[in-house]
Amino acid sequence: MSARLVMIEGGDGSGKSTLVHNLAEALKKEGQEVVTTREPGGSPKAEEIRRLILQRETGDNFSPDAEMLLFYATRMQHLFDTVVPALKRGEMVICDRFEVSTFAYQIHARSGNEPLFAKLHQEVVRLLKPLNVHCVYAHCDIDPEIAAKRVMSAGRLLPDVFDAREQAFHEKVREGYKVASQHLDTMFEHVVLDASKTPEEVLAEARNKLNL
Ligand code: TMP
Repeated sequence: MSARLVMIEGGDGSGKSTLVHNLAEALKKEGQEVVTTREPGGSPKAEEIRRLILQRETGDNFSPDAEMLLFYATRMQHLFDTVVPALKRGEMVICDRFEVSTFAYQIHARSGNEPLFAKLHQEVVRLLKPLNVHCVYAHCDIDPEIAAKRVMSAGRLLPDVFDAREQAFHEKVREGYKVASQHLDTMFEHVVLDASKTPEEVLAEARNKLNL
């Protein structure tokens, strides 16, 4: 299979990391070259910026623009170190979160600076477009209340500042994922997955809809 960028997106507790793992395992078993990675992070330098962004609340938060720029700083490093080289080698990259998360969290849920997002998004498009690879994101869609119960039952209580936000915020994030495609370049295709199903069912739906 030729190079492609598959982004697995969704709110906290949507099971997207499990899907990334299961998808990569299934494809590797069939002999495909797959690189799994994540955002924020995905390379040693990019992970350094992740730690800075996600550190526990100290009451001293980054301003909204500074936060978004940090997400793009780690993204640019990740693209440079991991994503672009793998795509150039002709491999498939499966990424746990990407830019759609910035739209859902920073822009839609937090009413962030949309013109700034649009400019930064164009920079990502400028890097990816010449590679001429298929870019698609899958939105793992789930009611945030069910997702929160999953997070709690997994013992992952308030792992970072973002998970600590209230339910209404997570509803806005979900809505953000639903409208994101209108704010992204048409080079990004998307599919929606029913993330309330079992991991096996979500994997089957993902393989079917992503044609993998
Ligand atoms: P993770 O738990 O999936 O690793 O993601 C960490 C948090 O970062 C999660 O709550 C969502 C948030 N996030 C943003 O707010 N904007 C972004 O652009 C990305 C990639 C993540």
